[in-house]
Order: sequence, then structure tokens, then C-alpha cells
Amino acid sequence: MITAVCPGSFDPVTLGHVDIITRAASIFDKVYVAVLVNPKKSPLFDEQERVELLKRSTAHLDNVEIESFNGLLADFVEMKKSRIIVKGLRAVSDFEYEFQMALANRKLSPNIETVFLTTSADNMFLSSSVVKQIAGFGGDISGFVPPEVCERIYERLGPKD
Ligand code: PNS
Repeated sequence: MITAVCPGSFDPVTLGHVDIITRAASIFDKVYVAVLVNPKKSPLFDEQERVELLKRSTAHLDNVEIESFNGLLADFVEMKKSRIIVKGLRAVSDFEYEFQMALANRKLSPNIETVFLTTSADNMFLSSSVVKQIAGFGGDISGFVPPEVCERIYERLGPKD
């Protein structure tokens, strides 16, 4: 059985994340989605909410499990007895940061390989920060996030008129 880990801060999960998780779930026998702490970001949603929103957005995928972990991604991957990290790559601008993380994770745990899936063209520009910014100014985010997430963001940031 080949397993993989899809890590991220998922604050909140977007259709771009759901696309990568869905495609990973079609390649690997089991996919663990890990909600982790990104020390560079201060989240809008707490860990529990991010897990809950991810669970609802991936309920149709029966080989996907969602968990949060307060520690190193490399330790989570080992804990799950996996050795593959799956990440989505949107543009060249993602590359340097992702490359650095992939190398750091392999240095921490030499058994780990990071696999990149190219984003779907529709999601090239999509990120959780873009979604929060648009929602914050009352814009329509229904095309960017799953419906359950849409409601929750407006509850938090104020509804669209
Ligand atoms: O969705 P993001 O914010 O780009 O995901 C980044 C994340 C959470 C995967 C990364 O910050 C992470 O792995 N955090 C856990 C701590 C860790 O292992 N850091 C070392 C990796 S270089």
C-alpha cells in the first residue's frame, strides 16, 4: 500500500487544494492531509475549524484522512509510515520556497520524497490569502472555495451584500 501526505496550512481549504488532494487520492492508496503550523502566517481559522472544513470538502474521497499536527512535517510523515509528500505547484514563484522545504524535509528524513503536481490552469492564481482578501472586501468567492467554506468565511469576515 503506497501512502502519501498532503501538507499545508489550509486557512482555509480552497478548490485548488481540493483538486490536488483529489488527484493525489487517485494516484495513492491512502492520502493523509496534514494541517500544520506555518510559522510565517497567523491563521484566520483555528486548527479544529480547518480540519472540519477539510473533512467536509473531501467527504467524497474515501481514501483520504484529515489530521492536524503541531510539529515538523517530516515527523508526521514518519509517524504515518509514509515517505511521500505531495504538494501543488502553481507558478515559478512557488518554486524556490517549495524546493527549499523539499530539501529540508529530505535532510531531516532522507527517506522522504516530495512529489509536485502541477495545478489545474483554473487555479493558477488561487491561494487562501487571495480568497480572504476578496471576501474581506465583500467580493464573491463562490468560484474559489467549496460551498461550506464560502459560508464560514463570510460569517467570519462579514457577508457579501
Ligand atoms: O500551505 P502552506 O502554508 O504553504 O504550508 C506550509 C507548511 C504548513 C506545509 C509548512 O510550513 C510546514 O511544513 N510546517 C510544519 C513545520 C515544518 O516541518 N517546517 C519545516 C519545513 S522546511
